[in-house]
Amino acid sequence: MRQKIGFIGGGQMAEALIKGIITSGLYKSEDILVAEPNESRRDHLESIYSVKAHYSNLPVFENCRVIMLAVKPQTMSMLLEDCQDRVQPQHILISIAAGLPISFYIDKLGKPKTKMVRVMPNTPALVLEGASAISRNLNVTDEELRVAEEIFLAVGEVVILDEVHLDAVTGLSGSGPAYVFSFVEALIDAGVKSGLTRAISEKLALQTVSGSVKLLKESGEHPAALRGKVTSPGGTAITALHVLEKVGFHGIIMDIVESAVNRSKELGKG
Ligand SMILES: NC(=O)c1ccc[n+]([C@@H]2O[C@H](COP(=O)([O-])OP(=O)(O)OC[C@H]3O[C@@H](n4cnc5c(N)ncnc54)[C@H](OP(=O)(O)O)[C@@H]3O)[C@@H](O)[C@H]2O)c1
Repeated sequence: MRQKIGFIGGGQMAEALIKGIITSGLYKSEDILVAEPNESRRDHLESIYSVKAHYSNLPVFENCRVIMLAVKPQTMSMLLEDCQDRVQPQHILISIAAGLPISFYIDKLGKPKTKMVRVMPNTPALVLEGASAISRNLNVTDEELRVAEEIFLAVGEVVILDEVHLDAVTGLSGSGPAYVFSFVEALIDAGVKSGLTRAISEKLALQTVSGSVKLLKESGEHPAALRGKVTSPGGTAITALHVLEKVGFHGIIMDIVESAVNRSKELGKG
């Protein structure tokens, strides 16, 4: 029998994962079950992805070994109380809820043998370009971890880490899109201030950022080396970089990531 996968919560992130695992051929639509209270979300997922969506999570626990917990962190407690009796030792629970440690799930379920995987994805997963970090408890075998890894590879890049590093991941890639969006927004405004229309400025800013990332990836060169190549003596780029360094750009970026890491640690303590 083919393995089925279940999603509890059929929101934005679950949809991105469903789209990714179907597009990559990892799972077929008929092998995907969703439990979602919202009727319009169930209809949406069934009509777009041909998956089976239920109001109750019982069919998910009865038919799937791999179960993705894709509800908001604030509703997780209620969900775990509700499904406590349904979780069996063969289930592999994968949670994408931000901030909740593996011990939270084990304590709430009161089942120390539960196989638990915790993932920190980020929003570009919605367009299959996410960056996810995965950690597990000791009940999860290497083979079972590979199952989780394949799911997240369908929506972007994956790293496997000990759970202790997930706060750092939250500060870097989890919250990272917010920093990038802010930078792009500032770049667009800067273009407008210099006399470009907003539409032109937006087009140029977005392509500059995505093109630069592509160049970094494809050349394999260090960012400092590529920066060196666009700074001609006495030119415009080095003049602008001088301003950036005077305000301590590197230090600011390190500080913002560190503040997000610390906040993640605070939230994890409840
Ligand atoms: N979106 C992101 O970019 C992102 C990034 C990283 C991590 N995450 C994590 O991913 C998780 C899901 O986020 P999301 O953005 O996909 O949230 P979302 O769009 O709000 O989806 C959650 C869905 O779960 C449903 N739900 C609530 N309680 C349920 C229950 N007991 N059983 C079944 N379904 C239930 C909700 O229905 P109602 O709306 O009716 O309550 C909603 O449709 C969160 O824990 C979040 O921390 C998200």
